[in-house]
Amino acid sequence: MAVKRRPIIAGNWKMNLTHLEAIQVVQKLSYSLDKKDYDATEVVVCPPFTALRSIQTVLEADRIPIRLGAQNCHWEEAGAFTGEVSPTMLAKLQVTYVICGHSERRHVFGEDYATVNRKVLAVIAHGMTPILCVGETVEQRDAGETESVVRSQLSAGLQKVDAAAVPTLVVAYEPVWAIGTGRNAEPTDANEVIAHIRAEVDSLFPGSGEEVRVQYGGSVKSGNIASFMEQPGIDGALVGGASLDPEEFARIVRYR
Ligand code: 13P
Repeated sequence: MAVKRRPIIAGNWKMNLTHLEAIQVVQKLSYSLDKKDYDATEVVVCPPFTALRSIQTVLEADRIPIRLGAQNCHWEEAGAFTGEVSPTMLAKLQVTYVICGHSERRHVFGEDYATVNRKVLAVIAHGMTPILCVGETVEQRDAGETESVVRSQLSAGLQKVDAAAVPTLVVAYEPVWAIGTGRNAEPTDANEVIAHIRAEVDSLFPGSGEEVRVQYGGSVKSGNIASFMEQPGIDGALVGGASLDPEEFARIVRYR
């Protein structure tokens, strides 16, 4: 029997919006969405650290059922790690999701496989859910390495993860060449890579491949979201630039 997976659409605001601007965006977004939308789709926003507390307060005060996500975290509880934010601090802010291994973290900030894995383990240990990002560069794609790259990112990222936690995980397939370029992947191509992602998760954690939710990310906008969501293996989107505009992000959430 086919597993029913709840769609999840998340906005990754990256290094954008002051906490005041972030409040306005989330309020406007909430004016455009209603119960039907939240019932159909889990909606997540991932603001910068400086806006997490403000957004948490707005969501709680106005009872807005948007989930809070963080874009990164350190793996230790506390200590001499200047400039870092711990999973304990995030969990206290009612953060539900933490993006781990985003391509900008991997490629701009040099996060290696072991680092991403430590973060995944720490996020789970603190009762939050990682959104584990995987995806190939254009050179890797041209060299026919897409599947092997994604496979090794998964097997490294999920090392030592408790099998019981795996079905609740979210994986985001974000081809690096599609991020912020306006050049989205072909939905059928993305669906094919995502089938490999499920197969790899299943070989690592038998029975979990059909359970994990897998998002597509890379130049998603209101004009192309439906073509991704109609693919059988795609459960949602991780949206960058288009999630900064609350009206556009609401149109993406209401893709149906
Ligand atoms: P864009 O939607 O701006 O291409 O960014 C995608 C992304 O990196 C989301 O994490």
